[in-house]
Amino acid sequence: MNDSAPIPGGDNVLVEFEDGIAWVYLNRPEKRNAMSVDLARDMNRVLDELELDDRCGVIVLSGKGKAFSAGMDLQGFFRNTDAVSDVERHRAYRETRAWQWRTLMHYAKPTIAMVHGYCFGGAFTPLICCDLAVTADDATYGLSEINWGIIPGGVVSKAIATVMGDREAMYYVMTGEKFDGVRAKELGLVNESVPADRLVERTRELAKVLLEKNPTVLRQARMAYKYSRYLDWEQAAEYLTAKGDQTTFVDTEKGRDKGMKQFLDEKTYKPGLGHYHRDAEAEQ
Ligand code: ACO
Repeated sequence: MNDSAPIPGGDNVLVEFEDGIAWVYLNRPEKRNAMSVDLARDMNRVLDELELDDRCGVIVLSGKGKAFSAGMDLQGFFRNTDAVSDVERHRAYRETRAWQWRTLMHYAKPTIAMVHGYCFGGAFTPLICCDLAVTADDATYGLSEINWGIIPGGVVSKAIATVMGDREAMYYVMTGEKFDGVRAKELGLVNESVPADRLVERTRELAKVLLEKNPTVLRQARMAYKYSRYLDWEQAAEYLTAKGDQTTFVDTEKGRDKGMKQFLDEKTYKPGLGHYHRDAEAEQ
């Protein structure tokens, strides 16, 4: 893919490339990036294209304007799909689930959610399904569904249960109370909360750390963690052993060989303190 190739995007999604980082913005600032069915279609196409685009080594998911996202669009998702046939509704829900959950969760490249401004309801799903998340201290979060007469549906209730404790999750499901980025960090929703003026810089730093890793091993490590969570101990041990062997097999960079050779024979790095030299020759 050359640098002059078209930039993926659409009416509702904006992509900017920067040294291996694809900044993917929900781009309906006038609607606080409320997520409509049209936005889902754009996101599905953008994520599909970026997965095979060499300009993208890591995705940062963010929002333009005053919000990460104000959740599902009450008009462009709920009311509009109330008005169509059951088949069309099913299709709209499937398209929404695809990007917010399935695709992000199993994406071939690492993903970071960068949250500022508002993050409500359905926005928790893509937030949680990104691998990592950084927020501004003063962001405003809320499971606001109860405030307008619905349950945290889609997969929101399921998603929050994977990162939040039951007491906290139930509290916010039942009260609809808003909270800030500092609290989001305490709740386990994000990795870090930083002052708003540090948000982009800190997210960029984190993305660069990921870009330095062996991409094959990074992908395998992410998937190994996500799938083994749902296995019992015996299954996990077998699966992870096989996944480790598979990683060595598919890793064209030969990371395992290089890592071992450079530590044991050449003594040129210490894995506990840093990364092996990726450009060096592998063991023949
Ligand atoms: N769905 C549809 N439209 C929305 C949404 C939404 N979730 N959020 C904001 N908008 C629209 C507003 O209707 C308004 O449109 P208009 O200019 O055509 O009237 C525009 O975006 C700007 O919104 P304001 O409310 O004027 O912006 P403000 O900055 O004052 O408030 C806030 C922002 C707090 C996010 C407010 O819009 C809000 O409470 N939105 C709903 C948040 C919510 O509860 N989301 C969860 C939905 S449920 C779910 O996701 C499963």
